[in-house]
Amino acid sequence: MAIKFSNTFLLRKLHQLTGVVPLGIYFFVHMYTNSTAMSGAKVFNDHVQDIHHMPYLIFIEIFGIFIPLLFHSIYGVLISSEARAKAISYSYGRNWFYVFQRVTGIFLFFFLLFHILNLRFGLIPGLESHGNPVAGNADRAFDIISAEFQNVGILIFYILGVVATAWHLAYGFWMFAVDWGIVIGEKAQRLTLYASIGLAIFLSAVGINAAVAFVENCGLLPDACCEAAEQRKIVDPPTPRRF
Ligand code: HEM
Repeated sequence: MAIKFSNTFLLRKLHQLTGVVPLGIYFFVHMYTNSTAMSGAKVFNDHVQDIHHMPYLIFIEIFGIFIPLLFHSIYGVLISSEARAKAISYSYGRNWFYVFQRVTGIFLFFFLLFHILNLRFGLIPGLESHGNPVAGNADRAFDIISAEFQNVGILIFYILGVVATAWHLAYGFWMFAVDWGIVIGEKAQRLTLYASIGLAIFLSAVGINAAVAFVENCGLLPDACCEAAEQRKIVDPPTPRRF
């Protein structure tokens, strides 16, 4: 009988854990950094610069992002292909959520491959970042992304990536809580499911607004929300009066 990857208990737990802990945390931090684009190029570039100045950055990237991401995506694609027939045979609500979770996972595999090759390594020909990635060019980070997002196709692809990640992560939190026995009982599981749908909507809104902020001052919010923040930063504190 063929061994099913999805039945390997330890790998499955590791798959859930890598999705929630390093990658989940990374997504929150990443959306925060992207949202600083609402305050303009200088503020965003300074945040990117701060990340590049972090001690042990290369180790954080390799062990905290790339290895968990590689394991999570490859194992995720494997179990999705095994689970496909079963999931599609159900039609009620929760199983559609389950199907979306799988579909977003497969989409994210391709999105993240493109995204990392594009902005982190500058390897996608024809784009602004080609040979000129954000890593190592923090002072141009905003301009590079802004130039790429002038292409509506790329902006939409990034927005789909943000929404897919928000859903995948928020529903993943719910599955984690149920599978690890953190939320027990029908009612508690239903309420937590509503909370995770709320989280998916919230993260999507933050992520979409951050993406639009690279092409439109303050993203989708009125300018006043951001100009106030910008002014507070650049206006010198009043000098004390001399008598
Ligand atoms: C508007 C949407 C997004 C923008 C503008 C954006 C921007 C960036 C930039 C500029 C980098 C390179 C960082 C550097 O080298 O300093 C990066 C890396 C990365 N992004 Fe995004 N990103 C977006 C969406 C996402 C989403 C939805 C995910 C999903 C989890 C994601 C995951 C990653 C990962 C894993 C890396 C590599 C991290 C590293 O090398 O340290 N990004 N992103």
